[in-house]
Order: sequence, then C-alpha cells, then structure tokens
Amino acid sequence: KSLKHYNTFGIASNARYFVSVETVEELKQALSKKPSKELFILGGGSNMLLTDDLDAFVIHLNLKGIEIIKESDTEVFVKAMAGENWHEFVQYCIAQDYGGLENLSLIPGNVGTAPIQNIGAYGVELKDTFSSCNTLEIDTLKEREFTKAECAFEYRNSIFKNKAKGKYIITSVTFRLTKKNHKTSVSYGDIQKHLAAKNIENPSVRDISEAVIAIRQSKLPDPNVLGNSGSFFKNPIVDSETFQDFRRKFPEAPFYEVSPTEFKIPAGWLIEKAGFKGQRFGDAGVHKNQALVLVNFGSASGKEIWQLAMAIQKKVKEMTGIFIEPEVNVF
Ligand code: EPU
Repeated sequence: KSLKHYNTFGIASNARYFVSVETVEELKQALSKKPSKELFILGGGSNMLLTDDLDAFVIHLNLKGIEIIKESDTEVFVKAMAGENWHEFVQYCIAQDYGGLENLSLIPGNVGTAPIQNIGAYGVELKDTFSSCNTLEIDTLKEREFTKAECAFEYRNSIFKNKAKGKYIITSVTFRLTKKNHKTSVSYGDIQKHLAAKNIENPSVRDISEAVIAIRQSKLPDPNVLGNSGSFFKNPIVDSETFQDFRRKFPEAPFYEVSPTEFKIPAGWLIEKAGFKGQRFGDAGVHKNQALVLVNFGSASGKEIWQLAMAIQKKVKEMTGIFIEPEVNVF
C-alpha cells in the first residue's frame, strides 16, 4: 500500500502489510497475528521521513474519542484517544474554554504521538498539562498506564524515545486542564505583538489560540499544501566552551540560556546563516520563511530530502562548529 497520504511529507513509499485499527480490541487482534517480523506503528505521520519502502507490518492507529474523566469547579481531566487529530482536539478544548493547550494550536499530527517527543511551541510543552497515558505493551498485549513522572519528559524527548522505545503503543492520553483562572503563557514575543495589535489585555484561551494560529500560518507551511514535517532538526544545546567559541564568531546570533552551562541556539538561524534558506534542489527544499523546515515541492523522494538534510548538517558544522541533529524520525 502506498503511504503517500499517511505522512505529511507526502513521500510515496510503500508498505508490505497495512491495517487500520479503530479500537484497542482491533489493535490487540492485529498484533496477535502480525504477518511480518517488523512492526511499524503509524499515527498522524507528521514527524517522520520515509527514505525507502517499508518491508513491515504497518498498523495505522485510528482510535477515536474524547471523554471527560473527572472534573471540579476549577479543573478537568480530558482523555483523548490516540487517533484524534491533535489540532482538532485542541480546538475542542478551546470551544469548552478549557485552558492549557492553546499555545499548541495547529501542530500537525495525532494525540497519541504527541507525548513521544513532548511536542512544544511558544513557551508551552505537552508535559505542562499531561496527566497520564494508556498504552498497550506489544509483547504481552497487556495494557499499562504511564504517569507523568514515568514518562521522563524533556525537550523533544520522553521515555518513549529511550527505554520504552518500540515496546508500547500509546492508545490514549489524559490531560489536566483549567476551567477558570487559566495560567496563560504569553511570554513569547510574537504572541505579545499579535495581542497588542488587537488591543487585547486579558487574553482568553481562544485569543491565544488565534494568535498562535496566525503566527504559525505566517511562518510554517501547511502540510496539505506543501509536504513537510515541521522542524526537521532540534535546536542544539551546547556547553559553555562551544558557546563561547560560537559567540566570538557570531556575536549577533540569537540564543537562549537553558542553564548557566547550557545554551540553546536556534537551528533555523544556523541553517539560514549557512545559506540554505529558501533553496531548492529538485523537489526537495528549505522553506523560505523558516529555515528549520524542509519541504517536498511535489515528488521528492525520502532519499532526496535526507541528502539535503545531511548536506545542511555538514555545512552548518563546518561554518559554525555546531552539530545539528534531526528531530524527525528517519526510516
Ligand atoms: N530564525 C532564523 N531564521 C529562520 C528561522 C528562525 O534566524 O529561518 C531565528 C529567529 O529569528 C528566532 C529563532 O531563530 O530568533 C527562533 O525561531 P522560531 O521562533 O521560529 O522558533 P524555532 O526555535 O525555530 C521552535 C520549535 C517549533 C515551534 C517554535 C515556536 C524546535 C525544534 N522547534 O522553532 O516547533 O513551533 O519553536 O515555539 O524546537 C516543530 O517541532 O515541528 C516545530 C515547528
């Protein structure tokens, strides 16, 4: 089966076996008779690059449903199944005036894959409202809940990219959201600019969501129009020594102090500095408004995108001394 419509890069790789499941029961059945040694769990396909056909058993997680688990006057625990589209779920929460997810509006992908890389944007990360997730252990077909502490969330990282990698399938995620006295996060400069332009002083969760949507639409390509996987690289975090060397060469570079000995540098800036912003090589390219995003103009193969990524990585290292690492999962 062609996976072209199952990954936001729009790469036309084929899967040897493919099944779409709509319930946890169907998922268990599929796992118990998997026809191939290799298993590939597919969610929204928004954070991966396929560089070849998959000689694997692809299970497309299409579990749907949103449910209130418990609530008080001030907060609510909302559970969403893994196959719910992330942005639609965020919009559902905003329509109920539930606070906590508004800064994460318009992120591509599904609910079930969001915890794996602890998605984040505009000063907020998934972990800030994450309560727990349910999973299915692949080897035993037993259900297991992971608490927030057990997930070991970090910047674009969690246990599901480390110790638990490939062992569990996330089937649902429960969020702890506010019903009043929302703790909104508007520290990000672009958000402040948008709110000021509209003369909004006490923004509602909807105001913030609308600001984030406007910012993202102005910088980031819509995967339905131009194939992409969001940020292709992580923002590198470097030690003091590397940072001082870098600062001497590029005093104008933006940076963010993570701790007194760790500095985060925007990979988008490094890639732009290396001259790749807006460049196109065949159908593979670097987005004109945000250099961190690689794009497929139509029929680029996964290999072509990967070659471009590696060329960028090499040039950035040569020019700036900083190594940037892919953020997307490459297969
Ligand atoms: N910059 C450039 N040139 C560019 C792009 C960025 O100089 O082409 C500079 C900007 O001027 C700014 C800095 O880099 O000073 C940061 O840029 P931006 O605010 O656009 O954010 P980012 O660090 O590039 C991260 C996330 C995004 C998230 C935004 C907003 C990562 C890897 N990426 O990007 O997440 O939307 O912050 O919070 O952390 C994603 O993960 O797919 C994603 C889109």
